[in-house]
Amino acid sequence: MTIVPVSLGDRSYDVLIEAGALDRAADLLAPYARERLIVVTDETVAQAQLGRIRHPNIIPIVLPAGEATKSWSQLESLCDQLLELEVERGEHIVALGGGVIGDLTGFAAAIVKRGIGFVQVPTTLLAQVDSSVGGKTAINARAGKNLIGAFHQPSFVLIDPTVLDTLPARELRAGYAEIVKYGLIDDPDFFAWCDEYAGALLAGEAQARERAIAHSVAAKARIVGEDERETADRRALLNLGHTFGHALEAETGFGSALLHGEAVAAGMGLAFRFSAERDLCPESDAVKVAEHLRRVGLPHDAISAGVSALGKRLAAHMAHDKKKASGRVPFILAGGIGRAYVDKTIPLEDVADFLDRQRA
Ligand code: NAD
Ligand code: GLY
Repeated sequence: MTIVPVSLGDRSYDVLIEAGALDRAADLLAPYARERLIVVTDETVAQAQLGRIRHPNIIPIVLPAGEATKSWSQLESLCDQLLELEVERGEHIVALGGGVIGDLTGFAAAIVKRGIGFVQVPTTLLAQVDSSVGGKTAINARAGKNLIGAFHQPSFVLIDPTVLDTLPARELRAGYAEIVKYGLIDDPDFFAWCDEYAGALLAGEAQARERAIAHSVAAKARIVGEDERETADRRALLNLGHTFGHALEAETGFGSALLHGEAVAAGMGLAFRFSAERDLCPESDAVKVAEHLRRVGLPHDAISAGVSALGKRLAAHMAHDKKKASGRVPFILAGGIGRAYVDKTIPLEDVADFLDRQRA
């Protein structure tokens, strides 16, 4: 068992990582929910994993699976169900699922009765290493993804790597992109570890899987602890690959054509290639990143992500970035592997030209 603390003053909490922890969930969650356990989940996870939680008074709220569930209508329905259950402010609800369930449940917890407690029990690799930690909660709006939300930290995160045994291989691989991201941001030794053990991890080798999850959670906890609300150019580093990736997702409709983690992988490859073209990063590092992504079966640029749109069109998607400030979109570039930084000076025309050169 590994416990990673997330240090945020009076909002601090622990992340517990243990194979088989879900089977002990009733005990492990007792400090948060003893009398009854309200568990929000989706239909797929309900079938695959919910039965492992043995609690005498479990109240499941089962929502449709998929990104469309992060919507006003599902939020309204979830809040109404919680109010009908007369959930109290001191009570905790449980989010059992991937980033969709975690983001929606966390947001509902942030606003019902002006804030109730919640616990994250992430069931995708992406949610285990990224979205369940750090307190970003959101739903999607007509104008774009994650535009309506709140910072609301969970009180506890329970990670059982064995839940990944039922996760489709493609989802697992997409989640891996968020693991290698931590190496690329500021931890070259971890990138080297990923380069050696990604195969074992993706094949479900327990030790490699747990080590990667624990290392990633510790990295996320450290960065969130330094800049909880993304105001100091520190947490923004977690967006490595996201600006390029977001444009690719927007182009493919935020659906199964390109999963979020796949878009992030392609975006990271592009961020390194762009950095190398501007002589900010050694060419050899950009090549190493692309080769690593290719080897694990992830896209490393727009074409391998199945997107052949003009640079101008992709740059137009980037122009809607919610992190835009004073008309400039912040890019996470890299001085090399493990040396990511925020650059707020990049003209979108340069990015569009770069993407067109990539297509050629
Ligand atoms: P997801 O929640 O849609 O899960 C992917 C699919 O896997 C779903 O169909 C789900 O039903 C299924 N699934 C989940 N666990 C399973 C299991 N153990 N066995 C079988 N099937 C399982 O997608 P995701 O990739 O986990 O999350 C993506 C979402 O996370 C996006 O909405 C994104 O915006 C958000 N996100 C949030 C943050 C954050 O910091 N809050 C960070 C990254 C991503
Ligand atoms: N996933 C980005 C963040 O939590 O800040």
